Amino acid sequence: MEMFVIEGCQPLSGRVSISGAKNAALPIMASTLLSDGPNQLQGVPNLVDVVTLSQLLSSLGMKIERNKNDSLLLEVIDESCFIADYDLVRRMRASICVLGPLLAKRKKACVSLPGGCNIGDRPVNLHLKGLAALGADIRIEQGYIIAEAKQLTGAKIYLGGPFGSTVTGTCNVMSAATLAKGTTTIEAAACEPEVVDLGNYLNAMGAKITGLGTPFLEIQGVESLTGTDYKIIPDRIEAATLMMAAAITNSSIELENVNLAHMTAIVEKLQELGVNIRNSDDVVHVSSNGKLNTADCIALPYPGIPTDVQAQLMALLTITSGMNIVTDKVFPDRFMHAAELTRMGASIRREGPNAIIHGQGQLNGACVMASDLRASAALVLAGLAAKGATTIRRIYHLDRGYEKLDEKLNSLGAHIKRVKDSPENRPQEIQPDLISLSNIPDDAEKRSTIDPPKWLTKQERKTGRR
Ligand code: EPZ
Repeated sequence: MEMFVIEGCQPLSGRVSISGAKNAALPIMASTLLSDGPNQLQGVPNLVDVVTLSQLLSSLGMKIERNKNDSLLLEVIDESCFIADYDLVRRMRASICVLGPLLAKRKKACVSLPGGCNIGDRPVNLHLKGLAALGADIRIEQGYIIAEAKQLTGAKIYLGGPFGSTVTGTCNVMSAATLAKGTTTIEAAACEPEVVDLGNYLNAMGAKITGLGTPFLEIQGVESLTGTDYKIIPDRIEAATLMMAAAITNSSIELENVNLAHMTAIVEKLQELGVNIRNSDDVVHVSSNGKLNTADCIALPYPGIPTDVQAQLMALLTITSGMNIVTDKVFPDRFMHAAELTRMGASIRREGPNAIIHGQGQLNGACVMASDLRASAALVLAGLAAKGATTIRRIYHLDRGYEKLDEKLNSLGAHIKRVKDSPENRPQEIQPDLISLSNIPDDAEKRSTIDPPKWLTKQERKTGRR
């Protein structure tokens, strides 16, 4: 396993280009199962989740070739298989996106229920409700969803749930409805730009979808879809993450391949915090002078602040000087990153559905553990701002959803080393031999008998203070 060692307080400068959107690429790749003929997708980010889905699609009879660095050629060459294997699906929840296309094109789909997740409950009841409304026979057997339908028929479907709509649920039902007989309406459809991108791609293949970007979709079923070429939208979550990297290090950077129209809510919130963001000639300039205001941030379905930037925003708020509130209305328990940020000196308290962040103005390096994709990004941001070195373990979480984030940040001046996860590579951890149980005094005044950690400076060893 690998980990990052980040030397904090390095100012950033320069320009990086944003990759294609992971959460558009995944459902679009899955929907190529619907098409006859080859598909050439541009802007497909080179990250672990794309590799995992490619393996799953290959197991479902898809030929996939990556030509040049960000484009994929995908063509179905065998339609006999309809089983999405548990071992692949458990690695990536987004594999559920093959359910709708498989059912519509191959009349049967057997997809493992996705595994658990650190950001909260991830039910698929709305996916199944929508597909059943299209006439599929759905049952759960031995951890698999088994869906069958000789011919899907158009229906009127409401996809609203207790936390708003469902992004991949809308993708599944919209994709399946393209080959249904008759017209389907989806009410309370997700409006995320990634869902719109999928809809635009399906229309480019010959589907007839209207209402994209609104909660009301109408899909007129067609006989077949033809493979086509398509360029995937930029990743708004990566762009927001890099904007916050500039903000948390009081830096000025430039970003290319950004669609600011997909980022109104998060850009407004960063500007409210005091971050300068402006666009000129398709380059976005982001700068911060270090004086950040406090804020009340609520993650909501699009066009609200995305839940996928909530953790990164929390990291940024820890260096403000005052009280901030963060609430996530999409995944109310998505706060695994809070405890790790606290290890770095942040003051964060849970109050029911809210997290109260008392900005301390400064973080300190520590050894922390990534728990999920966006929590990892939050810890990277915190490490960039922290005094001293920060070690982030289990960075495989980060590699699932960001294309070379460490390399992009290092090209801007960050000091991030990707090393093997081993005790000697963890500078902040007090090595077991420094504090042996026999040394621990039975009363406080002998505390100084404990050898201070080797990594403290001579002055700090003498005064006992950092
Ligand atoms: C997509 O997940 C994204 N993943 C997530 O990004 C993102 O956080 C999420 O949408 C919300 O924007 C991909 O697109 C691959 P949902 P998805 O179905 O579709 C509840 C990342 O970091 N719900 O929109 O799985 C659910 O519990 C990932 O890139 C139901 O109740 O999310 C949640 O509270 C993390 N029943 C809310 O809806 C259902 O059938 C939104 O979930 C489905 C969902």
